[in-house]
Amino acid sequence: MSNTYYPAIARRRSRRDFLKLMAAAGTVMTFTPFVDWGKFLPNNRTSVSERTKIEIRGGEAANVHTFPANSSEVVIYPKSDDPVLNKEAFRTWQLIRLPNEMGGGINSVSSFRLYSMVCLHLWCLWTYFPRGPDKNDPSKIVGGSGACPCHGSMYDPLTGIAYQGPASLQGPPSNALPRLDLEADTEGDLWILPPTWDLTKNGIVGYGRYVA
Ligand code: FES
Repeated sequence: MSNTYYPAIARRRSRRDFLKLMAAAGTVMTFTPFVDWGKFLPNNRTSVSERTKIEIRGGEAANVHTFPANSSEVVIYPKSDDPVLNKEAFRTWQLIRLPNEMGGGINSVSSFRLYSMVCLHLWCLWTYFPRGPDKNDPSKIVGGSGACPCHGSMYDPLTGIAYQGPASLQGPPSNALPRLDLEADTEGDLWILPPTWDLTKNGIVGYGRYVA
């Protein structure tokens, strides 16, 4: 038997193990959109019975008169007294003021959206990519979407519905981001209204929302 025989077997085995692993991962991914993950999620079911003022950047209120169009801020909701809990992805939301072209120029609550940042594909955190000229070709306008860095899912900021990437291939409700309802007070400060964690209302974080 040649000296190269054993290394050759070892190589074949490790390749076979790798292929088996990929097949198993493929099976899991195939069924991911069809499993009712909502029943198993570490979803935040904390009921909040009162409206909550939105705080950004260390306590400043989000206000319709000062929040720039075509921009976003991270909002933690519901906020806990425990700073560790406040780092949970399932409490992380993205407040977006729409670009002017999408109605963001109006000083009212209609210019804003607040979506869960947990991507509906495999739970990476997406973020808002502002609308503007392409760096390489300024004649082209790009952005104005929620973009997930992991596998490229893109979300429409108007509706929270995935329109590109793997999240867009998932059926409802797992193609639309959970969304919180907002209102503005007389000063223009934004508040979150008490949510209903239900697929037909505000949705279930990490799982989705039915869009009427
Ligand atoms: S986790 Fe966002 S696209 Fe896969």
